[in-house]
Amino acid sequence: MVSGVKIAVIGAGYVGLTTAACLTSLGHRVVCADIDPAKVRALSRGEVTIREPGMAELVGVGLAEGRLRFVVGAGKAAPGAEVVFLCVPTPMGPDGAAKLAALEAAVAELRDPLPPDSVVVNKSTVPVGTAARVGELLGRPDVAVASNPEFLREGSAVHDFLNPDRIVIGSADLDAAKRVAALYEALNAPVLLTDPASSEMIKYAANCYLATRLSFVNSIAELCERMGADVNDVTRGMGYDQRIGTAFLRPGPGWGGSCFPKDAHALLRSAAVIGSDFPLLRAAIDTNARQQRLVVGKIRQAVGGRLAGTRVGLLGLTFKAGTDDLRDSPALAIAELLAAEGAELVGYDPSMPGAVAGIRVVDSAYAAAAGASALVLLTEWPEFRELDWERIAGQISGRYVIDARNHLDPLVVHHAGLLHQCLGQPAPQRALSR
Ligand code: UDX
Repeated sequence: MVSGVKIAVIGAGYVGLTTAACLTSLGHRVVCADIDPAKVRALSRGEVTIREPGMAELVGVGLAEGRLRFVVGAGKAAPGAEVVFLCVPTPMGPDGAAKLAALEAAVAELRDPLPPDSVVVNKSTVPVGTAARVGELLGRPDVAVASNPEFLREGSAVHDFLNPDRIVIGSADLDAAKRVAALYEALNAPVLLTDPASSEMIKYAANCYLATRLSFVNSIAELCERMGADVNDVTRGMGYDQRIGTAFLRPGPGWGGSCFPKDAHALLRSAAVIGSDFPLLRAAIDTNARQQRLVVGKIRQAVGGRLAGTRVGLLGLTFKAGTDDLRDSPALAIAELLAAEGAELVGYDPSMPGAVAGIRVVDSAYAAAAGASALVLLTEWPEFRELDWERIAGQISGRYVIDARNHLDPLVVHHAGLLHQCLGQPAPQRALSR
């Protein structure tokens, strides 16, 4: 007889599958529902397509132990569930607001089959006030509603779920909140119990703060470069201040991915809806777009001032290393700007994406460098540090390597006879003479 709390997870996407697999590993019994029958069939066979360390193993063990099942449709997962997690997509609509159609559809399906005294927990990132709305849509006074946002990073989602900095649970029903908190007891993490609106806001505030922090760092990097300072030392010096901390201070080609841009726009939109504004967040978003134009400016300068007809090699296409996710990738935004100026783009990414619009995707970094007027590193894949730069120097037609992640060892690149141009540091010629 399998023991543990009976949980339903609605949505087998990134957040849902991580939640389902990890809760299973904590000893609970999970039924995970998705609307896509093909996905449900594949997952039921243990086939995990998401590139996430540890996920396939957890799913395999869960299936083998009979603790994890996949079904089609929220309604099928609801019977018998004590706690139901909503993990459905809330994509950005044309006005920047989060679209709640999938959430509303799931709630409608759950309304009748939900057992009395169950708790519906929202994990999707949703505008403040959505938990209250879910309660209204459910129309089931015997079912409690809670908000329990996730803070998972792609590429370390399983690790982040099992080693959280905090668990946030917001509910008007304290008993329900405690029942949800108990699910995570084994993790020994700080638990913050609050009201639903605060819980929903915590998620937006955390992501928007991190995005703003990165825009700040990218702006400091630009000033460093122009004033002769070195941003790597500057951020190290900032990070020693315990009020600041060392994490999330790396300059880059701008922040991207499936969360930051969506959440920043959604919070700005929510502010507008109530007749308010958030000028700082607006500036962080604008600074992010500006950062991409700055990187393009560096590339243009490196090829002699005119991109039209020049070949540019791109190293890294995903929004960060360790993922195959191209959604809202700064690398692709930069590629689009380069293409708009007539550059010919040849790109390589270790996740080996299929076709990418506007870029000839090749199967090695060397092939991306061959004949390029400039080579641009856009994603911080560790293997790029191990490249044979002598070989690249023999194949590239220009001399510049634009390192938009400050990821490479400048000395190694210089020794190969190439000019390494990174962010927030003196120009390569000066660096060479130091
Ligand atoms: C983020 C949040 O970290 C996570 O808590 C939330 O649940 C979802 O959104 P993720 O999108 O996986 O996770 O990416 P993250 O690792 O946070 O990076 C976001 C962006 O910031 C990436 O484009 C990354 O390259 C960039 N970044 C991050 C930097 O440019 N510099 C840094 O120092 C850190």
